[in-house]
Amino acid sequence: MTNRTFAYLGILLTACSAATDPPPQSGIASELQCENGAMMTFADLHAQVIGPACTGCHHGGAGGTAPDMSTAEKGLASTRGVASIGYAKTLKIVDPGAPHTSTMMLKVLGGDLKGFAGPNGETVGGGMPQVGTLSTAQKTAIRDWICSGAQP
Ligand code: HEC
Repeated sequence: MTNRTFAYLGILLTACSAATDPPPQSGIASELQCENGAMMTFADLHAQVIGPACTGCHHGGAGGTAPDMSTAEKGLASTRGVASIGYAKTLKIVDPGAPHTSTMMLKVLGGDLKGFAGPNGETVGGGMPQVGTLSTAQKTAIRDWICSGAQP
């Protein structure tokens, strides 16, 4: 084939994928895909998941662990677009639209121990919450929030 044929094919492929919802990304686990997600705001996520399951440890007071997620405002400011504190600095704690490069999502799915490291094998440590468990619906809510662009 000529170079021109390749260029034409490239345009066709781009046009096709743009016409659908985000297509499944190859090599990324289904738990980390953004297909068919619901809209989720951080205000709702904080009320349903972060407040009950995470703020016992993740608060700014004595003995608290970063990121401080004690309120919805602080939780958003200390996670959205913020570089990972303890792990690979190329990953974000929350990478809007990208659960597979968000340490929060990778750790909530069990982290390295369950095979949820970064896309290039970056370590994210163990799972979250460190004490307690999340329901599948709560894990899905975190993914939906990240996939919805990690909005307030
Ligand atoms: C019992 C205490 C405890 C609870 C509950 C807890 N965490 Fe953590 N979290 C920690 C500790 C300690 C660290 C630091 C060590 C580590 O990263 O594994 C941490 C680190 C983190 C990090 C930092 C990752 C990075 O990139 O540096 C994130 C994100 C996180 N937790 C999310 C959560 C979420 C979401 C919840 C609730 C579903 C939660 N944690 C519940 C103790 C806790």
